[in-house]
Amino acid sequence: MRVRVLGTAAGGGLPQWNCGCESCCRAEELGTQRTQDCLAISGDGTTWYLVNASPDLRTQLLAAPELRPPPGTRRTPVEGVLLTSAELDHTLGLVTLREASQLTIYATEGVHRALREAFPITEIIGNYTAVRSEQISNGLVLAGGIAVQVIGVGDKRPRYASGLAGHDWVVAYRFTDTGSGRSLVYAPCLPAWHEAFERIIDGADTVLLDGTFHTEDELTRSSGSDRPASSMGHLPIRAALQEIARHPKSRFLFTHLNNTNPLVHPDAPEHAEVRAAGAAIAAERQLLVLE
Ligand code: MLT
Ligand code: MN
Ligand code: ZN
Repeated sequence: MRVRVLGTAAGGGLPQWNCGCESCCRAEELGTQRTQDCLAISGDGTTWYLVNASPDLRTQLLAAPELRPPPGTRRTPVEGVLLTSAELDHTLGLVTLREASQLTIYATEGVHRALREAFPITEIIGNYTAVRSEQISNGLVLAGGIAVQVIGVGDKRPRYASGLAGHDWVVAYRFTDTGSGRSLVYAPCLPAWHEAFERIIDGADTVLLDGTFHTEDELTRSSGSDRPASSMGHLPIRAALQEIARHPKSRFLFTHLNNTNPLVHPDAPEHAEVRAAGAAIAAERQLLVLE
């Protein structure tokens, strides 16, 4: 199984276009860029699935050689998209995929409803390509030999869908290579570390985890906001580091970093704390080979 980390930033990316905070200015100065969170995964190296569709998708696809069409064809290796939420930073890239000849979108019922009713992107891109909306279920096996397990991790709706009913608005996936048995968990938004999450990561080789904020009061200190990280649906890295100690055999990588998070910068002293826990920050375009 191969996983290409296409983007590692939370909504807005780094630097954010309308932000002149210290962190965004520093990123600009040093040429550090992080695009918005999503990844591509393949069991056989030929058939690929996107997990989330970020607003930066076009640039991300062009930067990943394995996602280019074979020369002389218009055949994309991208077979479908799985969504972990209906948030705009995970779904705006669906617009970019309208040029595909067909598109299968796997998501929970609530997420599909949001994409039908509040942000009717499925219908809109249905005018350009053949869209198939599949409800994600446990026991799904993707082409190329990847078994998918899914668990709900949160009920935070996107702001644009605040009036919609439903549940499982935010999910985590465990992908298992049906040949080698190697597995990866992807949980870019994790409000709290609960029992079901503990079970789904048990024995996983790699866990890509919510790294939006470093600390609970990060936004309070950087922008005067009164919203702690966990109230925004994101367990801070510092709290997650306590939990990962129980899983010494798994490799933990943090993704979906907000531009206020000091760990977006490669030379931040805060990396020592992450390294000491045996974890790291995912890099843009990082390739994970699980064989
Ligand atoms: C989130 O991760 O909490 C959302 O994407 C927030 C947003 O960008 O609106
Ligand atoms: Mn987000
Ligand atoms: Zn900023």
